[in-house]
This record gives sequence, structure tokens and C-alpha cells, in this order.
Amino acid sequence: MCGIVAYNGNRSAYPILISGLKKLEYRGYDSTGVSILNGNLNTYKRKGKVNDLEDFIGSKDLKGTLGIGHTRWATHGAPNHINAHPHSSEDGKLVLVHNGIIENYDLLKSSLEDLGHTFKSDTDTEVLVHLIEEYKNSQDLNTRDALIKALNKVIGAYAIVLIDKDSPNILYGARKSSPLVLGIGENEHFIGSDATPIVEYTDQVVYLEDEQVVEIVKDKGYTILDLEKNEVDIEVHKIDLKIEELEKGGYDHFMLKEIFQQPQTILESMRGRINAKEEWVQVGGLTENLDRFQNADRIIFVACGTSWHAALVGEYLFEELARIPVEVEYASEFRYRNPILTENDVVIVLSQSGETADSLAALELAKSKGAMTYGLVNVVGSSIARMTDSGSYMHSGPEIGVASTKAFTSMLTVLSLMAIQLGREKNLILDDSYLEYIYELESIPNKVSAILEVNDKIKYIAAEVKGAQNALYLGRGFNFPIALEGALKLKEISYIHAEGYPAAEMKHGPIALIDLYMPVIIIATNKSAYDKIISNIEEVKARKGTVIAIVDEDDVRIKQLADYTITIPRTQEIFSPLLSIIPLQLLSYHIAVMRGCHVDQPRNLAKSVTVE
Ligand code: AGP
Repeated sequence: MCGIVAYNGNRSAYPILISGLKKLEYRGYDSTGVSILNGNLNTYKRKGKVNDLEDFIGSKDLKGTLGIGHTRWATHGAPNHINAHPHSSEDGKLVLVHNGIIENYDLLKSSLEDLGHTFKSDTDTEVLVHLIEEYKNSQDLNTRDALIKALNKVIGAYAIVLIDKDSPNILYGARKSSPLVLGIGENEHFIGSDATPIVEYTDQVVYLEDEQVVEIVKDKGYTILDLEKNEVDIEVHKIDLKIEELEKGGYDHFMLKEIFQQPQTILESMRGRINAKEEWVQVGGLTENLDRFQNADRIIFVACGTSWHAALVGEYLFEELARIPVEVEYASEFRYRNPILTENDVVIVLSQSGETADSLAALELAKSKGAMTYGLVNVVGSSIARMTDSGSYMHSGPEIGVASTKAFTSMLTVLSLMAIQLGREKNLILDDSYLEYIYELESIPNKVSAILEVNDKIKYIAAEVKGAQNALYLGRGFNFPIALEGALKLKEISYIHAEGYPAAEMKHGPIALIDLYMPVIIIATNKSAYDKIISNIEEVKARKGTVIAIVDEDDVRIKQLADYTITIPRTQEIFSPLLSIIPLQLLSYHIAVMRGCHVDQPRNLAKSVTVE
């Protein structure tokens, strides 16, 4: 959601904050701000992006070695200068940045107003900083104890960083249900809402747990406490994240870079988990829990957005290959609808970020009911990865573009491996098919590379349909979730209204929308339903719709029927989503660029949704 970066050390804080905020911008880009302590507390904030803040600050001399910064995705209060973080206390001595939502802010605000506090912004965050001030002054507490007292009072989610002008050597941080990472350097410390602003300086990090507070004293070190003020033992982790992974690497956009990385990222997701020569598939995490999986009454996938689409493909894969009943749930619905869950269920949470609030809450619910929980996560050390009983990382590297691409294909890769391993363990996959699956899956990265080579043709098609106001995506079987994902990609970055449907559902309603101006993108690679897909195409053509078909290389008939075709290499139907999504990602990308949209930072969106 929002991005947080803070520094306490001996270097100048401002450049570190600005460079950190640029790396965090994918988390939110409505407004930005920094506060730097140098005798005085200097706070600058701006509506818009980090560049706008930099222009605003210009050549002002921002000295100081203690500072905090924030990039915002608005929840409470419009995105404007006043609601931008940092927020300060009544007397201006405390400044605070926050990611999350203080749910009882309204009640707290009225009681603080009764005590004489006045508020400048519409944010919940400003209430929290006033509350800390109130405890500090009225109960004569030190800043740390006032902070802890305030955190015991608030309901909701927070990752915060705080500076007190009266304690010029100290930086405070705290988290509950929103991530916060402490970076430990040589006589210097960093705080980030994830590790991206920190990796440039150190690879030693601590992932704060819920309801923990960190106090960092310059040249002395840090202490971590719980909300009862007990010191807690923590583990320092070494992160394996390289700074180049956070740069565009010559591409115009992160999204394009990430689309083009997929041959490599799919390979990374397979690495050490499949071996054609030795004829095995082994997914760590699953291997240690085979009994639980094989004997599960049900597997329930919970996820949001693109990860939910990957889960739908997972359902097809697990039921087809391993014959285990699967249900796929939106995390946001699952968490509130009192689902029937038992100890014999396995709940798999899919999440690129590992921080999505609804997915986290669904995971907590599953745990409370005794189900086994398994995480399929990309971000190492994220909350979901740490809270699940077991799991597998996707290893796709940092995904910065708000529209998820490479994380999706990595999820599909790991799900394919898991389904094959489970099917084999259950003796449902015989030798020949087992080998065929293994060889075919190993060939997928090269086939993805082949699709990327037709980028120019996809760009040409994008130019033909870029003016559309609506689009329909159709697919059957394993490619129905790809129709949903293709539609989501188009709407989130180009703002064209798009819907995905199982192809056969078209005649039950959406067909009414088809006219000359409606592009219909049909994934037509399934051999098992080929004739039926041809009928769907005929139905669209009869209504003058424009058909863009994704077809196999040896296709003949659809090439004659469709207005445009994009050819992809042949693969087994169970793996076809790994290929058919690639041209749809590229099509959305080019359409969005041609429409002048901000591809990596689409309006109103943020990369990880850490609030409800
Ligand atoms: C994908 O393009 C989206 N921006 C979004 O739907 C995303 O997949 C969703 O918010 C879930 O995120 P997660 O995988 O990090 O949990």
C-alpha cells in the first residue's frame, strides 16, 4: 500500500530517503513526503510522485542524519498536500509516517479534540501522532512508552516510523498487520516497508513481527520490544536481493522488463524442483507434507486478483492430475463467510507480495480452524511466507510493475510441479505421462522466448484495437482463467473495460455486447474443445465483432476465420496457460502505452493491498 523508508546513522538522510522512495513508489504514488531532523524538524510533502517532491524541495539544503519518508496510496482523506505524510503532533515535535488503517480513529479523534487537539488533515495517521503526544505530555512518559501506550489503544493495522525532535538520536518503528523491515548497517540503521530501499546499503535485516516496536539509538544500536515493553529475541536474516533487480535494465517500463524476464523466471521457479534426466519432480515444502496433501479432504486455494486467477488454473491442474477436490476462494469473501474447515483440509494461500491484507486474514482464519496452511509466495520473508505451516517460494525476483506478470507464470509453474508430484505419488500418473510432463515443462521457457519474438506483431494488433472502449476475453477449460487474467491486465493498465468469460458462456449474455467496435480475444489452443471454439468464433463474426485469436502453430482453420491471429508453440493442454497468457500481457502493455497510460503505476492502484 504505502511505502515507508527511514534512516538513522551518520550519512546525510535526504538522498537515502529520496532514492528509497523511488524504489517504493510502486506501493503507492498519490503523494510523498519527508521529514529530516537537524536541530529543527523540516517536513516537505507534495501531492504526486517523488519527482514532484524533489522539484518542490529543489536546492534547499536538507542536512540531517535522521529522517523518515513516505509514499502514499490514499485510504482516509483525498490525495493532496495536506493529507500527505509525514504528519505531526500539535506542538510539531513528533512526526510520523504510517502504512495501514487505524480503524478507531474517529473515536480517538473526538476525545483528543475534547482535550484541545486540532487536526489539519483528514487522515487516521494524524490522530495516532496526536495520541502519542497526548500520552507523552499528560502522563509524563518518554516517547517510547507513549508510543507503546498509544499502540495499545489503537485498533487496526499499522507500520509506522516516528521521530521526536526532543530525542534527536532516536528513530522508532512499529508494526501490526503491515510489514516493516529493519536494515542493520555499520553504525547505521534503515527501516523500510519492504527491503527494496535497504538492499543498496546492507543485506542484514530483521522482519518485525506484529505488535513489536523497535527503538534505534544512533551509534548505540537497536532494541525490539513487545507491547508489554518486554525485550524480544529476534533473528537477523541475510537477504539475497540485488540492486539491479530493482532497476528497469534498459526497458521502458518494469512491466515490459518483467514480461521479457519470464523465460528466466519460469526456469527459476523450476530450479531444483524438476530433473528430466533423472526423471523426478520434487517441490520442497510439498515433499515434507505429502501425507497431509494426499489425505486431504479438500485443498482450498485462497487469493486475490491475479493470484486468484493462478489459483483457478491450480484447481484444473490438481483435480486433473492428482484427483484431489479443490475449491478456489476470494480471500476477501472467505475470511468473512464462516467457511466450513476441518483439520483434514489444506489451505493454500497464493500471493506475490505475501502481504495482501485479505489473504493474510484468510490465512489466520484457516489456522484458527486447524487446517494445514501452505504459502505460495514470491517475496521472501513476507508475512504470509512466515505465517504458513509450510510453503514454496516462487523465485521470480522482485516484481515492481503494479500489473502482475512474471509472478503469475511462476505461480502456474509451481502449481504444475506440485500437481505432477502429487499425481505421481498417488500413482495416477504413469511412467510415460510422467516423463512427457517433465520434458514438456522443461521446454516451456524456450517456448515463452519464441512467443516474445512475435512482440512486433502483437504491437501491430494493439495499434488496430487501441481505441476500443470494451473488450471481451474468452477461453475454455485451462484457458478460462487466462481469459479472466487477460481482461484484468487490459483494464488495470489501459482503463478499457474488459471482461473474461468461459467461451461457452458468451451466448448466455455477453453476446449482446458484440458489435463492430468490440474486440473479442479468444484463446483457441485447446485441442479438446477446438470445434466448439470455432463455433464461438463464428458467433462473434456473425455479429461483426473483431476476433483476435491465440492459436497453436499448426492451426489452419482459425487462421482463416479470425481477423488477427497470434501463434504460440504447441504444448500439452495442462501447460497451455503458461504460454497463452504471454501474448495477452504484451497486448495490454502495448495498448496502454499507445493510450498514453502510466503502465507501471496505473491510476488508483497499488502493488500490494495491505488494507481492506
Ligand atoms: C495484478 O495485476 C494486480 N495488481 C492485483 O490483482 C494482485 O494480483 C492482487 O492484489 C493480489 O496481490 P498478491 O498476489 O500480492 O497477494
